[in-house]
Formats: sequence, structure tokens, C-alpha cells
Amino acid sequence: MSITNFSTGADLSQHGVPLTKVTMPALAEMKRQGKPISALTAYDYATARLVDEAGIDLVLVGDSLAMVVLGHENTLAVTVDEMLHHTRAVRRAARRALVVADMPFGSYHGSIDAGVANAVRFVKEAGAEAVKIEGPRTELVRALTEAEIPVVGHLGLTPQSVHRMGGFRVQARTDDAIRRLKAGARALERAGAGAIVLEGIPREVAAAITAELAIPTIGIGAGPDCDGQILVFHDLVNLSFAPAAKFVRRYGDAAALFHSAIERYREDVEHRTFPSDRESYHLPAETHPPADRDDADAVVNRDALQDLGEFGRD
Ligand code: KIV
Repeated sequence: MSITNFSTGADLSQHGVPLTKVTMPALAEMKRQGKPISALTAYDYATARLVDEAGIDLVLVGDSLAMVVLGHENTLAVTVDEMLHHTRAVRRAARRALVVADMPFGSYHGSIDAGVANAVRFVKEAGAEAVKIEGPRTELVRALTEAEIPVVGHLGLTPQSVHRMGGFRVQARTDDAIRRLKAGARALERAGAGAIVLEGIPREVAAAITAELAIPTIGIGAGPDCDGQILVFHDLVNLSFAPAAKFVRRYGDAAALFHSAIERYREDVEHRTFPSDRESYHLPAETHPPADRDDADAVVNRDALQDLGEFGRD
């Protein structure tokens, strides 16, 4: 195939507006140009569509889905197969955003070969464009880079280390911890990581790492000086059923919206006001006199439903 046929980085269009696919090298270019990188998690087709259509640069299929989607206490239980399932759904929705899959606990903590094999599954079977791994695992990052798999590192408060850390606690508060964190960030960059998520660390430490590295840093609870920011989708829209952490800003209240919609639906069902006649299908006019029916609305319904085959027929 000629190089001119490759579609990576090509212009797509959405609502008539040209879109340029975000790639891993594009993130580095954004850092060089001083353009902030927006990132958000998504775990399914619907939320990924919304995230992508809103122009978010990077969508992470985070293992936080163990907590916010599957109801676990922490991220440790989610499996490779579950993460693959959600990554596929997100991949189908994302047209512009870079799709990064989180490698779950246990999938890269054994041999390097096993870690590479699991990462290959995310690219090959689910369409991920990069994988994210927690901790300064430089040997693995080097092996993944050699296997042509872009890597996002993750340092600071790494949720898969919850038991070692003794809870979800802010990290890098002592001189020694700051020194180790900075060394880890430098080592990840040298090993080939394309970006690093910095989570739950003092602003000053994140700022120093961001200034030192050529690759972008993406902060969550790491202050405003990172090259980009990421939040968990469910925190952003109040769907996480937990008190918000200090660093979370809620931009919407989906819980209130959904509660109200669901309650109104239940009330309508209980009062037999849903569905109405206009929301019902009817026999043909010849066998059922028009006096009983609202024909104009039936036509509107037919038009709206014409693509739905059997369901569209009145
Ligand atoms: O799993 C996740 O959502 C994450 C983000 C918090 C960065 O790793």
C-alpha cells in the first residue's frame, strides 16, 4: 500500500467540521506548542461518543471502570477480558480522540513477555492506540515501545498500589519520595513513554516534572501546571455515588437528571399516562375508523420511524 493511502492523521469530518485524528505524536506536538491537552475517561459507546464529539483529545478506558461502572471497592478486580470489552465499545465511538486502554492489575506485573502479550491484545482485539501502565516499569515500557505499542505512564497515586500505599493517599510529600518520583518520570521518558499521567501529587512537584520532561504530563489531582488534565467521566457529571475528591470539579449533575427522568417515567406508568395513543401503533385506517385516531400524528410517527422496519409501521 502506498503511504498516500494511510488514513492515520487524516481529516475526518463531524457535523461538517473537519477533524484531525489525535495521535500520540500529536500530543507531544501540543506540548511543544503550549496547547493544553484535554483528557477524560469513558467506558462505553454512549459516553465515548459524547466525549469525542465534545472535542476531548484523549479518551482513557480507565480501570476506574471497576469502581464507577462495576461497583468494586477499588480497581484491582477488573480483568483483561472486561477491559477489552469496554475498550472495543469506546473504540467504535471515538473518531477523533486518541483511545488509550488501561492495562488492569495483574496483566503486566509478571514477565515482560506476558505484559507485551496482554498489551498486544488491547491493540489487536480492541483497537487501542496506546496502553497505560502504572509505576516506573521501564523495562516493560521499552519492550512495548519496541513492539510498536505507544505507552502512557502513570506515577504518583497509582490506584493499583492501593494496598502498598495503605489507601488512596497523596504521594510525593517528602524529599525522598519527590526524588524517587522525579527519577521515575525521567526513566519512563528515556524508556519511550509518550506521556505520563501524574496523579495525586503536590502541584509544585508536578510543575517541576512537567518543566523537565519533553513528553506531556497529564494531571489528575496534580495541579494546573501539567500539560493536560484528565478526570473520571462519572466524577465530572456526578455519577460516582461518592463524595468528590478535592481535585474534582463537577460540571453537571447527571444523577439529578437521570433520577428525575426515571421517576417521571415510573409515575407515568403507574398513572397509565405512558404510553399515550400517539405513542401507539394502530391497525390500518380501513379496519379501524379514523375517528378513533390522531392521523396527523400517526404520519409524523411513520416518517420518524421509516428507517426502523417493522417498528416504523403503524
Ligand atoms: O483508571 C483511571 O480512570 C485512571 C485515571 C484516574 C487517570 O487511571
